Amino acid sequence: MARFASLFCAIVAVATSAAAAAVQERDSALITFFTDINYLGEESTYFGTVPTGCIPLSPPFVSSVFSVQIAKGIRCTLWNEAKCGQAAGKSITLNGNVTNLVNLEFNDLTVAFECLA
Ligand SMILES: *[C@@H]1O[C@H](CO)[C@@H](O)[C@H](O)[C@H]1NC(C)=O
Repeated sequence: MARFASLFCAIVAVATSAAAAAVQERDSALITFFTDINYLGEESTYFGTVPTGCIPLSPPFVSSVFSVQIAKGIRCTLWNEAKCGQAAGKSITLNGNVTNLVNLEFNDLTVAFECLA
């Protein structure tokens, strides 16, 4: 019986990693950052699944995001500190495209983000 149980566990482990691989294949574009307004300048798209956890931006996007495109059905919070709420700072939560973050007084501020369902 113990032998059967360990075999069963091994099968479950294989099935679970196959499921994880399937999720990986379904990663889709969640958010695209632009260094200029109107989706211009340099751009970088983050692919993944939600929730993403707290993701730090890399240069040249750090403190230089001016517009974003966010996939349908998800919302992303942009933070002006790298710990996504675990440090003092400012954030903005968006659930769609924003052509100009200046209008929301959040241009030049983003250093990290987190996307949720
Ligand atoms: C956001 O921008 C993308 C890329 O241009 C576009 O495909 C999508 O339809 C836009 N979303 C909305 C809600 O306008």
